Amino acid sequence: MVQPSAKGRLRSVGLVTAGVVAFYMGLSVYENQEGLFRTFVLPAVRWLPAEAGNNLALMACKYRLYPVSGYRDNINLKTSFFGRPISNPIGIAAGFDKNGEAVQGLKDLGFGFIEIGSVTPQAQIGNPKPRIFRLHNDRAIINRKGVDSDGHEAVVKRLRHLRATKAIDVVVGVNLERNRTSKTPVMDYMTGVKTFAPWADYLVVNYDHLKGMRSVNNKTKLIELLEGVNKARAQLGDKVNVPILLKLSPDLTLDEMRDVAAVIKMYACRVDGLIVSNATMYRGNLRVSRLATENGGISGEPLRERSTRLIAQMYELTNGCVPIIGVGGISSGRDAYEKIAAGASYVQIYTAFVYEGPALVDRVKADLSAWLTKLGYTNINDAVGSNYQRYLPSTD
Ligand SMILES: Cc1cc2nc3c(=O)[nH]c(=O)nc-3n(C[C@H](O)[C@H](O)[C@H](O)COP(=O)(O)O)c2cc1C
Repeated sequence: MVQPSAKGRLRSVGLVTAGVVAFYMGLSVYENQEGLFRTFVLPAVRWLPAEAGNNLALMACKYRLYPVSGYRDNINLKTSFFGRPISNPIGIAAGFDKNGEAVQGLKDLGFGFIEIGSVTPQAQIGNPKPRIFRLHNDRAIINRKGVDSDGHEAVVKRLRHLRATKAIDVVVGVNLERNRTSKTPVMDYMTGVKTFAPWADYLVVNYDHLKGMRSVNNKTKLIELLEGVNKARAQLGDKVNVPILLKLSPDLTLDEMRDVAAVIKMYACRVDGLIVSNATMYRGNLRVSRLATENGGISGEPLRERSTRLIAQMYELTNGCVPIIGVGGISSGRDAYEKIAAGASYVQIYTAFVYEGPALVDRVKADLSAWLTKLGYTNINDAVGSNYQRYLPSTD
């Protein structure tokens, strides 16, 4: 008798687990039971390879296989996003729905805004698998996907279709990246601006290559990049004035942050907001895990304080003149509140959502709303930057 290979056995275990998960997902949706979901589905997902777990979560959002929430956002979370009213300031971060497949489902889960991408001009497959690892004890993910993307053409088609047929009334941002082998990276971002500006509510320049910004060369590169995207937007004429945001690495030194702050104050390099931050390469605060040595950026709990600190620093360096989207390790209303008190006007979540499932969204909103009330704020906007000094690194 032919014995199945180890790979074949692993595949069978994966398929059976996926089947069981799908069954209980269906059951919990049918019965609208969050408890069933938490007791069966989330632990089962734990046994899947991390990327399969993430894909399953995405599919569940795409096909709306989640228990429906009846939660209504409290009025104190209501704010505006570059002129568009939103009922809460909590978004899903880039990387979860890279290709814009699950926008409607994510909206139904209660996110106030949705960022899709990163999207590259040409489709690319990213790094070889495995390339995502869950560090359960750290509530963290290591990710070295290397941007797998369906490419501009496929994603813009999806977005256009969504706008045309469903009249989706949710803020959708598109996060732009360059192709890995591109010889003209600035052109890649400029093409992204031209392709998505008519369909997106905001665009993000995901330029995670600022480390070593002190080198004059890198500073010049950032200026070239931001001049390029501003030019691309200007070429679209007055009718298209989509906000462009810059997403930062949490591993910038203070000097590098100062350079970023100085560059974005230059007229030709204007950005309308900052996203702080992407995943970190820092591993000093991880618990011991056999996976901790895997290459890649770390997101989730170990990133939380680091990104909050960077938010406070950028808030100070820019005098609060551009809105900041705070992201990194948020898993509760208190975490979200800390980012806001440090200077963020909005927040995003990724890793905790994958660990905790859809109920997290309502929980964070309800908690955040309660924190605001407890601290005497009538609206989220009053709390922005209210305590940023507290989160600055000490200078002694
Ligand atoms: C698997 C994975 C894929 C990601 N892909 C992207 C991406 O394509 N573009 C991007 O700007 N950020 C990407 N991110 C970073 C997130 O948007 C976010 O900045 C980071 O995970 C910190 O938030 P969190 O701690 O809530 O996860 C990715 C993160 C993860 C875990």
